[in-house]
Amino acid sequence: MTERYARLTGWGRYVPEKRLTNVDLEKMVETSDEWITQRTGIKERRIRGEKDTNTSMAVAAGQEALKVAGISAQDLDFIIVCTSSPDYLLPSAGSLVQDALGADCGAVQVTAGCSGWVYGAVMADALIRAGVHNAILVIGVEIVSYGIDYTDRKTCVLFGDAAAATVFQASDQPSGILASELGSDGAKAQALWVPGGGSAWPISPEVVEQRQHYIQMDGPEVFKFASRVVGSSLKRTIAQAGLLPEDIDLFIPHQANARIIEAGARFMRQPIEKFYMNLQYYGNTSAASVPLALVEAIEEGRLKDGCKVAMVAFGAGLTWGSVVIQMGVGEVSPAHVLFSAGRARYLAKRARETVLDTAQAAWCPFIPGLIRGGVPSAVRFALKILIKHLCAT
Ligand code: UT7
Repeated sequence: MTERYARLTGWGRYVPEKRLTNVDLEKMVETSDEWITQRTGIKERRIRGEKDTNTSMAVAAGQEALKVAGISAQDLDFIIVCTSSPDYLLPSAGSLVQDALGADCGAVQVTAGCSGWVYGAVMADALIRAGVHNAILVIGVEIVSYGIDYTDRKTCVLFGDAAAATVFQASDQPSGILASELGSDGAKAQALWVPGGGSAWPISPEVVEQRQHYIQMDGPEVFKFASRVVGSSLKRTIAQAGLLPEDIDLFIPHQANARIIEAGARFMRQPIEKFYMNLQYYGNTSAASVPLALVEAIEEGRLKDGCKVAMVAFGAGLTWGSVVIQMGVGEVSPAHVLFSAGRARYLAKRARETVLDTAQAAWCPFIPGLIRGGVPSAVRFALKILIKHLCAT
C-alpha cells in the first residue's frame, strides 16, 4: 500500500481592524509601552469589532484557505475548529462553522489552549494518513479579548483576537506533516485557567464579583514551562522527521513572548532570523497564533515549495505541540533510507548534535554552580546534569 501524506494546500487568515496599542493600555492599567515592549516584544494587538464572532472570523479565514486550495466547502470531508473562545458552550464551534461555510461533513471543536491548531493539524494528519478522510479544514480562531480582565495588567497586555485556517489534502508523495509531538501536563492546569463559569463552579454573582470568569495566569510559571518546552519539543520532532535543526528553513513558534522565542533559538543553536515573529502586531492570539504566523510567512514569500518549516506551540493545560511541515512536495529523508550514504551522513551529524546538546546541558549549570560553591561544586553539579542528560538521550 502506498503511504499517504497530509499535504498543506490552502491557507488564509482574518484579523479584526480594531487595534489596541501599548499606548492605549497605558491609559487603562498601570503599565508602559517600555515595559510591554521589553518584557514581551508586543506593540499592539487586534480586538474584535462589533460584527466579529468566533464563527464569522473562522469562516472568513476558512473561505480564503479554500480559495487557495482551489476547492469548495462541499469538497471537505471534515472540519476541525481549534478554539478556547467559542460563540457558545453548546453546540461546538465546528458545527457552526460547517453550517456557515455550507459544508456537508463532520465537524468538531478542539480545545487545547494556545496549542489548539497544532493539535488539530496532527489530528487531521492522522485522519488523512489512515485513509478516513481526503480533505480537512483546520482553523485556529480566538476572541481572547472576551475572557480578559482589562483591569489585570498581568494578562491584558498579552492577548489579541484573530483567525487563521489551513487545508490539508491527501497526497501519495512526502509532503505536509512529516513528524509531530503532542504533550500535556495537567498538573500545572492552574498556571493558566478560567476558574469560574464551568460546571465545577457555575457562573453566579459571586464568580463575577470575584472576576473568576476571566483568564488567570501565573506568568513566570508559564514562562519557565514554555522556555523549556519550545526548544526540547522542536528538537525531538525534527529528529523524528529524520532532519537536523540546520535543515529547517523557518521556525514558527507560538507568538507569546519574544524572550521565550529567543531562548528557544539559543537552545536550538539556530540564528534568531530563522524564527518568524509577528507578535509585535498581534500579541498572543492563542490557537490562531501559529497558523496566523504560518500564513503571513507564506504571504511574505518566506516559505516556498520545498521548504521545511518547524512549528511549536504551548499554552493552557498546560499543553504543547510541535510539527514539521514540508511545503509542496519533498522526498523521503535520507535518514529513513536504511544502508544509504545519506543515512550515514545524517547519523554522523546527529551524533555531533548530541555531543553539543550534552555539552550545552552541562555548561548551563556550571556557571550557577561556580557562583554558589566554587569549582568543585560547579564540576559536581555539571557532572550530575551531564549523566542525567546522557541517560535521557
Ligand atoms: O500562550 C501562553 C500564554 N502565556 C504566556 O505565554 C505567558 C508567559 N509568561 C510571560 O510572558 C511573562 O511571565 C510575562 C510577560 C507575563 C511577565 O513578565 P515577567 O518578566 O515574568 O514579569 P513578572 O510577572 O515576574 O513581574 C515582574 C514585575 C512585577 O512587579 P514587582 O512585583 O516586581 O514589583 C509585576 O507586578 O512586573 C510587574 N508587571 C508589570 N508591570 C508593568 C507585571 N505585568 C506588568 C505590566 N506592566 N503589564
